[in-house]
This record gives sequence, C-alpha cells and structure tokens, in this order.
Amino acid sequence: MNEYSISTQFIDLAAQQKLIRSRIDIAIKKVLDHGQYIMGPEVKQFESDLKEFTGSKHAFTCANGTDALSIVLMAWDIGPGDAVFVPSFTYIATAEAPAQLGATPFFVDVDKDTFNIDLKSFKQAILDSRELGLRPAAVIPVDLVGQPAQVDEITDIAHQEKIKVLVDGAQSFGGISNNRRVGSMGDATTTSFFPAKPLGCYGDGGAIFTQDDGDAELINSIRLHGKGSHKYENIRIGMNSRMDTIQAAILIEKLKIFPDELIAREKIANLYTEKLSEKIRTPFCNNNLKSAWAQYTIVIEDRDRIQDELKSKNIPSVIYYPIPLSKQAGYKDYPSVKSGLDVSDYLSKRVLSLPMHPYLRDDEVERISQEICLLTGQ
Ligand SMILES: Cc1ncc(COP(=O)(O)O)c(C=O)c1O
Repeated sequence: MNEYSISTQFIDLAAQQKLIRSRIDIAIKKVLDHGQYIMGPEVKQFESDLKEFTGSKHAFTCANGTDALSIVLMAWDIGPGDAVFVPSFTYIATAEAPAQLGATPFFVDVDKDTFNIDLKSFKQAILDSRELGLRPAAVIPVDLVGQPAQVDEITDIAHQEKIKVLVDGAQSFGGISNNRRVGSMGDATTTSFFPAKPLGCYGDGGAIFTQDDGDAELINSIRLHGKGSHKYENIRIGMNSRMDTIQAAILIEKLKIFPDELIAREKIANLYTEKLSEKIRTPFCNNNLKSAWAQYTIVIEDRDRIQDELKSKNIPSVIYYPIPLSKQAGYKDYPSVKSGLDVSDYLSKRVLSLPMHPYLRDDEVERISQEICLLTGQ
C-alpha cells in the first residue's frame, strides 16, 4: 500500500474547505452578526451572482434540488392526468417531483453514449402517453453525470406538442451547451447545491432558472408559501422552500473559485480518458458540450467484481444508479415507453463512477487508471 491508496477520496470536500476556510469563516460570521438567517442579504446577492454566472434572466434559490423541480411543475399547474416524461436512468428526485403532484412520471430510455434522454424514445413516449389517455404535459431532460442533455432538440420536439421543458441540471451546474451555460436553456432549469454536487454548499440548497417573467413571478411566490404582495398575503398554494442565508453566504464564496474548479475537473477527466480510452469505454463528449464533470463514469462488464477489487486497494468508486427508476418498487407501476428501456437497464448494470473532484492529483488518476486496466485484464 502506498500513501496515495490511503488518501484518495471519491469527492474531497475537505481539500476545498482548506483552501477557502478563512473566507467561509468570515462569511458565516457576517451572517451571525447581522442575524437575518432567513432570506437575508446574502440570498439576494447569491441570486444575482447566479444570474450573472449562468446568463439566465431570473434565478431563485430554494431549499434543495428536489423542491426546485416541484416548484416549477407547480408553477406550470402539472397534476393528475398529466404525463411528465423522465429518463429511467437518473436519480429518483426527477420522477418523485411529478409523482408527488399526482402527475404520471412516464419513463423514457436514454442514449447509450451520453446517458441522457434518447430523442426517438421521447417521441415514441409522447404517442404512447396519448394512447393511455394522458395529456403530454412536460419533459424533464436530466444532464446526467454533468453532461448537458440535447435540450435544443428536445425543446423542438416538445414545443411542437405544447410540452414544457424542465431541465434537471442538478448534476450539471457549470456545464455549457452551444456556448450557453446550464441555467439558460429549456423553459426552466433547476439545480442542486447538495454538498457533493459540482457547486455544493454545507447542507441542502437548490436553485431555479427561467427566462419567462410570468413563470418567475409564480416560482418566487410558490417557494414562499404562495405569497402575494407581502409575506402574509397568500394567493395560491405554495410550499416552504427557502435557502438558508448561511448557505447562500457559503455559496457566494464557493462560486468565486468555481470557474477554476471546472477547469481542474475537465483536466482530470481528460487525463482519465487519455489513460483509459484505448482499453475501456470512457465518457462520450460531444464537441458542442462542456460537461461539469460531476462524475467520471465508465461502462464495464463485471462491474461489481471490479468495484470490490478497487475497494480492496483503497480506491473508492460509486454506482450511480444500480436500479433504473422503472424497476424501483415505488415506481414500477408507472408507464414506460413501448419500445422499452433497454439502454437504461444495460447501463444500470455496468456503470462505475471513479474518484472525481478538482483537487485530485495527476498521480492519483494515473494509479486509479493503472489499477482499472490491470483489473479489466487490459
Ligand atoms: C438528477 C438529480 N435530480 C435532482 C436531485 C435532487 O437534488 P437535492 O438532493 O438537492 O434535492 C439530484 C440530487 O442528487 C439529482 O442528482
């Protein structure tokens, strides 16, 4: 065992904290001093920073990335009888939000290279949903493992059918598609600031982006108990989903180093690809897209054995996601596209995410890659 085998972290939040700890301490102290713990000045400041960073006309913070999805669906009045198309290969929150509102999450397959919604499968699902008597109402493309989905193509198909596009950018904040940042595409975009996300806080947090003034007003109201012109006038049913001022203060500091971290993530991803791509299936990257590299995910046979072997060498890895949503006990009765979910099922048995964070050293990436090549018999 060498020193690296002890220290390699899957996501090293401590390394980042060490770098910015004094600035975070000052930012938190400021909040403690002014005492506006809920909707304090840092929340407004961070929302303004988010608009500037993403190029989005409106940005609203909220309590987490799951609420962010629900708030947008509520603003669009999605409910019983509505089909909301979601990939089967994603995190549960993407389907949970429409299900909670009484809408029908409708499972669509993903593309084997990008892991994101397959256009053909989406088109088929629209027809299938009508056959079941549902109204095709919204689609939630997910930017899985950080790579933006084909949002423009999905929007073209969706808008022809009067379907709204809600981009789940929980994993892709910082990503770019056709020179536009995640947050400026689709009818609305949501993200998560869960600690392990590319931009994470020290607790829960989320945000919603839209270019539409009417939706912006609804979103702002819904996240604050359906407020009207003031806090104690409630003009619709909403929810309590605010970002804590302390988390906003932390995120303001973290956003300052985020562009450099994105560059570091990309460099690490490129090094992994250089070391692995001739031997195993490495992430596919479309030229017009820039991933936020939330994860570096390979596709391999015999995945579980390899994960165990890596563990025995103190190399952490994670399987996102071992059970596709269409096979989750709580969701298996929801409909899925007639043409099947073969790619989602295939990927769920073969994906493996390797350590990925901006502070991973080249020698760690080289060692991890070397071990994987040995273990896969390459
Ligand atoms: C694709 C996706 N959507 C939504 C969420 C929900 O975000 P949160 O955990 O902040 O509620 C996550 C978080 O892991 C996610 O990965």
